[in-house]
Amino acid sequence: MRSVWLAGSRGLLGRQLALALGQSRIDWHASGREVDIADWDRVKAFAAGKKAGWIVNCAGYTAVDSAETESDEAFRVNALGAENLARIAADTGAVLIHFSTDYVFDGAGQRPYREDDPLRPLNVYGQSKLEGERRIAARGATHFIFRLSGLYGLSGGSFVLTMLRLLRRGKEIRVVNDQIVSPTYAGLLAENLMNLMRNGPDAYGTYHYSDAGRVSWFDLAVAIGEAARDCGLTGHEVPIRPVPTGDYPARAQRPAYSVLDKEKVKTRLNFTVRDWKENLRDFFAAYRRTGGE
Ligand SMILES: NC(=O)c1ccc[n+]([C@@H]2O[C@H](COP(=O)([O-])OP(=O)(O)OC[C@H]3O[C@@H](n4cnc5c(N)ncnc54)[C@H](OP(=O)(O)O)[C@@H]3O)[C@@H](O)[C@H]2O)c1
Repeated sequence: MRSVWLAGSRGLLGRQLALALGQSRIDWHASGREVDIADWDRVKAFAAGKKAGWIVNCAGYTAVDSAETESDEAFRVNALGAENLARIAADTGAVLIHFSTDYVFDGAGQRPYREDDPLRPLNVYGQSKLEGERRIAARGATHFIFRLSGLYGLSGGSFVLTMLRLLRRGKEIRVVNDQIVSPTYAGLLAENLMNLMRNGPDAYGTYHYSDAGRVSWFDLAVAIGEAARDCGLTGHEVPIRPVPTGDYPARAQRPAYSVLDKEKVKTRLNFTVRDWKENLRDFFAAYRRTGGE
């Protein structure tokens, strides 16, 4: 297999992919924030001589609420950074794998979002990610874009690890019950991406990927509490209270419904899509095995 450049290797998804690449025989190079993807000279210098056949972009500005007041930085990383990696991919003949978000949709839908549904981000983060998608397409690089939602993994900032930390603190937790999502376990995503890079297929384009099923953040929190207790990671039961979004003011507006339709990724790329409850069990087993963060 051709070698891989993993950009943003110290983030949530980056670390999960680094774990998978480290266990493989694939030749790979990692870069973190020191190779600022929005700085064309740094990107060009890092790429020189590496002959990466794949550029996997796990770097991004992901602070959804802060993006409302730091829109320049959000666009610099998520739009210009993505464009730079597409440009270097086009220049060197590499395939770019990039990640986008369910937040490119407005959440007014009633059925899982398909790749060609109308795009209308509600917040700056979503707008910057959408601009990144557009600039990648405009650069003409061979690419895959995977729109993800509610990503969690063995490390990094995520709803699942935040809940685990709060559960261990033992005080009542309030969680919104009127936003419906499908979470994405980065462990299974990493396996799917490794298979994609090993075997093709070369059906390039934009895809939706997350776990199967749909759940509110509140129900997900309850499931996390149960799984954590079953694994012995937390002791006594901690009360979790459902609240409407209005009771939980946040700077950025979020879609009320952002379940993604996975038909295309299953049929064209042969990705395995598993139920979110099953993935949560797998995650907790892996978390216990590895001793957590
Ligand atoms: N998390 C989610 O729920 C979610 C949902 C949908 C889509 N996504 C997308 O999935 C991808 C991966 O997300 P994630 O959760 O793994 O993100 P993350 O944990 O925030 O990691 C992003 C990484 O990018 C690095 N970075 C930031 N600015 C950079 C720059 N200018 N140049 C190079 N590196 C830079 C960060 O460095 P530091 O470590 O120094 O901060 C961090 O390591 C992103 O494209 C994100 O938009 C995430």
